[in-house]
Order: sequence, then structure tokens, then C-alpha cells
Amino acid sequence: MSKRRPLVAGNWKMNGQLSSAKEIKALVKLLASAKTKPKCDVLLCPPATLISPFKAHVTGARVALGGQDCHAEIEGAHTGDISAEMLKNAGARYVIVGHSERRADHGETSKQVAAKARAAYRAGLIAIICVGETAAERKQGATMKIVNAQIKASLPAEANAKNTLIAYEPVWAIGTGLTPSADDVAKVHLGIRKQLQKRLGDSEAQKMRVLYGGSVKATNAKDLMGFANVDGALVGGASLKAKDFWGIIEAYI
Ligand code: PGA
Repeated sequence: MSKRRPLVAGNWKMNGQLSSAKEIKALVKLLASAKTKPKCDVLLCPPATLISPFKAHVTGARVALGGQDCHAEIEGAHTGDISAEMLKNAGARYVIVGHSERRADHGETSKQVAAKARAAYRAGLIAIICVGETAAERKQGATMKIVNAQIKASLPAEANAKNTLIAYEPVWAIGTGLTPSADDVAKVHLGIRKQLQKRLGDSEAQKMRVLYGGSVKATNAKDLMGFANVDGALVGGASLKAKDFWGIIEAYI
């Protein structure tokens, strides 16, 4: 049995308005009224504009807030960007870095991802570093090669089990309804654990949480979360509605 406390994290991506506060209120209510408390941490990463307005709703609740990306610098002439310090100031405790949509849409390299993770530490945020192979890379049998290379280059030297989580998200499973087989998830997560052992030493590697992401839903959460070395989920679409997200959190009740 793993001693790692799982995390169920929601990534709203570019979805949500002020009126979406009703979803976070509903989530807090579901958590507060559950007879058995889920044995996991819960995190919601809405668009940056909603972190501050949502803060009041999670105060005293068992839901943390996070950002979806940050710039490596503290401040400066970087139009449209947001710093880790700004996210922290708004009420974030975590930040996702290196999501495949950032890597694909903005050409982010693992080196830049490492700089962003370092910025997260500097601001006192926990970084969720995303890795994962594309469909083409998988077809070539290159999954572990890609994932290992991303971990190697995206984790700053300062990474430890307290300031960092890994999220394994096969790109082809994101938003598609497709998920890897039980065997594949187990294989990749074990591979990631081994890579972390090399990198951080056994004790720290055993403590670091490795999430699975990509089409996690209430209907498959219990299976996916039940595999060895899977320490929770990073959830996109199914985190937008409190009821759906709760269905995933319930895998830990
Ligand atoms: P999805 O997204 O749950 O909608 O597949 C996951 C993610 O991109 O983090």
C-alpha cells in the first residue's frame, strides 16, 4: 500500500466565468456533506481570472486552487503572461506546468517547463509537471523514451516530493475518451517511478506523487486510480461540473 496521499486535480483549461462559482460551491458542499471523507487531496485549477474570486469559496474547505501555467520570471515586460507570484497572490497553492496543450500550442520545451517549475518553487507553489507521448510516438514504441526524456529535462534540480508532482498524460488520451490499458498505465507509471529513483534517489522517488491524466471520468476513475504507482488524477473535461468531478473523487471513498 502506498503511503503517498493521492491528489485529484481538476484543470478547467480555458473554460469558466464568474458565474461558474456555483460549481466550486457545489463541490465544497459535496465534500463537506460526504459521510466518509475521501482519502485524497482535491485541487481545482480554473483560469487565472477565477482564482481570486473562487478563493472565498474554498477558505476552510478541503479544496485547493491552482494555476494552469506560469511564466518563469517574477514580473516584467511579458504581455499576456502571468507569474507564479501572481498566482500565489491570487490564492493558488499549485500550478500546472508543461501541459501538452502548452507544449503543443506555445512550443514550450522541457527546458522552459523546468524554468517554470523553478518559478513555482520560488513563489512557494507546488508544481504539477506534465509529461506524455503523442499517438505517433506511441505507435513507434517510443513512449518510455519520450516520457523519460521529458522528466529528465523538465524537472529542476530542486525538485522534491514536497514541491513537485508528475502528471502522466498520454496526449492521445486527452479529451478523446480513449484511455491506455491497465497494463500500459502500470508499465508507464512504474517506468516513471524508476526514472525518479535514478534522479532523486529511492526515498524521495517513493514519496513523489505521479498522477494519471487523459479522459478520466467517474466511470473509469476507480479502475485507473487502483493501479500501482497511480497517485491520483489530473482531470480536464470531467472537472467542469461539480457532480462529475465528485464522481471521480469518490474513487477514494
Ligand atoms: P481530459 O483532459 O480529462 O479532458 O481528457 C485531461 C487534461 O488535459 O489534463
